[in-house]
Amino acid sequence: MKVYSESELIREHINLWKSNGEKIVLVPTMGHLHKGHASLIELAKSLGQRVLVSIFVNPLQFNQESDFTRYPRTLESDIEQLLTLNVDAVFTPSTESLYPHGIQSAPKIIIPELTEEFDGHYRPRHFEGVCTVVCKLFNILTPDVVVFGNKDYQQLLIIRRMVDDLNFNIDIVAGNTERESDGLAMSSRNTHLTPDQRVVAKHLYANLTQVKTQFLPSEVLSLESSARANLEAVGMTVEYFSIRDAVNLQPIDNNTKNVVVLTAAWLGDTRLIDNILFPMP
Ligand code: PAJ
Repeated sequence: MKVYSESELIREHINLWKSNGEKIVLVPTMGHLHKGHASLIELAKSLGQRVLVSIFVNPLQFNQESDFTRYPRTLESDIEQLLTLNVDAVFTPSTESLYPHGIQSAPKIIIPELTEEFDGHYRPRHFEGVCTVVCKLFNILTPDVVVFGNKDYQQLLIIRRMVDDLNFNIDIVAGNTERESDGLAMSSRNTHLTPDQRVVAKHLYANLTQVKTQFLPSEVLSLESSARANLEAVGMTVEYFSIRDAVNLQPIDNNTKNVVVLTAAWLGDTRLIDNILFPMP
């Protein structure tokens, strides 16, 4: 497994693989790898001959300086994990190489739809940063397939839209969310939870599964408000808890085939997001 920080060098290696007709699958990450990332890498292995993992904590997608500064950076142990996962190459670019003219001067990719609500609303310019860096990674690494997690469901839909609208010849494949035994979705930010907060954190997924079990189209508003109240009662500050159409994130209607319940909540200084997907009953 080779670790590259230079675009030109990894590109040479990728071109060699491509000239042998090998399919390149990319898993983009911000590092501090956990079993959720590992499951995407296993999925990636089943989709092509060569698996690339990128690790880059992208300053452009953090709307709070403190969140960026305290984001866990564990490159050495990440690389050890990637070795055991038999990844073919790792890309760890520097900020200066990805944003040669500075972050402010970088051209930004703005996807006008799907970004107004939820994380787009609570984290202004977050998706602009995500799309910009993902677009750069696509241009540098020229993957055939890219794997993203359902864990960041809004991000997944926005990336699919970007690929469509910017004519990338890339397949986007979604991987399932890996969870701790009590249901908490694995996340690099879980490290920030205190032991007490870690116990409370399970309520997020418990409320999502409860909505799935009790779902009736006529009960959407009351299910949303009782889940919010439950989460506030255990000490979370809820940003959103919304039941939507899984295709366009709009309120469900007669055409809805699949439902997504999206939520984001603060537990102390830590922001947790999660969702659940299910077919319209
Ligand atoms: P990061 O948070 O590191 O996540 C990398 C990928 O792992 C994303 O596609 C995310 O949805 C997925 N993931 C996170 N937790 C998961 C879990 N518990 N189970 C399965 N998959 C999980 O998302 C980003 O980085 C960045 O925004 C990025 C796309 C790399 C752009 O900077």
